[in-house]
Amino acid sequence: MARLAGSAPVQPLDFQPPDGLVEAVNAALSLRRPLLLTGAPGSGKSTVALSVARELGLGEPLWWPVTSRSTLEDALFRYDALGRLYAKQLGERDELTRFLRLGPLGTALAPSKIPKVLLVDELDKSDVDLPGDLLNVLERGEFEIDVLKRHSEDTFDVRLDGGPDTCRISGGVVRCQEFPVIVATSNGDREFPPPFLRRCIRFTMPDPDPEFLGRIVDACLAGLDPATRAGVDELLTSFAERIRRRETLATDQLLNAVYLVTRDMPPEGEQRRRLEELLTRDLSTT
Ligand SMILES: Nc1ncnc2c1ncn2[C@@H]1O[C@H](COP(=O)(O)OP(=O)(O)OP(=O)(O)O)[C@@H](O)[C@H]1O
Ligand SMILES: [Mg+2]
Repeated sequence: MARLAGSAPVQPLDFQPPDGLVEAVNAALSLRRPLLLTGAPGSGKSTVALSVARELGLGEPLWWPVTSRSTLEDALFRYDALGRLYAKQLGERDELTRFLRLGPLGTALAPSKIPKVLLVDELDKSDVDLPGDLLNVLERGEFEIDVLKRHSEDTFDVRLDGGPDTCRISGGVVRCQEFPVIVATSNGDREFPPPFLRRCIRFTMPDPDPEFLGRIVDACLAGLDPATRAGVDELLTSFAERIRRRETLATDQLLNAVYLVTRDMPPEGEQRRRLEELLTRDLSTT
């Protein structure tokens, strides 16, 4: 099963929503607004997109991992003009669509009967103008591909992000039929401007308490026998306590630790303690 991040032996379908998240997702869907998730590393932000896509039967989400070099244009489409030129010089048949592919944002806006889910991952890493520009494109629900506009009387089958599928584009304009479901995540590296925040539904992943961590462990590591499971409670409590003391810890660190101390031949005593310590080191220290 596809995974976006993390290394815990869990499946995204096991995702346990924290209180309030379902209401935020529903509000975002009804109002057709992006859901902006903030929260600690490993609090499950990216997994929310997978979970929503699965719950609603919308297929695999599109993934746009944002960096400081990300541009809106690249996320819409990439056109390799140089590649096309070389191919022409080599006497190859001139096929424009061989050198054109929609990016994750472009694919989310491509006409399709069912809405797509787009994960805009780590939007806080972007250049300062990108969030506002992104919302403008989403609100228009369409964009132009200049190289296709030059042949505006023609129809092209343009490749979508991440696979062999294509969509039919006429007049050089890509226009969405169904508004995509947008989940944007942020680790809070920088603030977003109020006009951007106003147009999103915001949700902050809460710090987990032992009861919530227990639910995640039960869902993700189903099949633990009751005696083994009981031995995990201490780990859950100390993990939640460390988060409360503002240590930076990710849920998948806990899942990894629980997994290793509950397998067939679990370590004991000092060895177990050392393993737990190794796997649940504070992420804010080197
Ligand atoms: N509530 C939850 N239910 C089930 N699994 C969870 C939950 N929260 C986190 N996890 C698991 O923890 C791992 C990390 O989650 P994820 O990558 O979504 O976190 P993140 O907030 O996006 O982290 P980062 O900020 O580092 O990108 C995943 O394997 C995910 O399945
Ligand atoms: Mg993430």
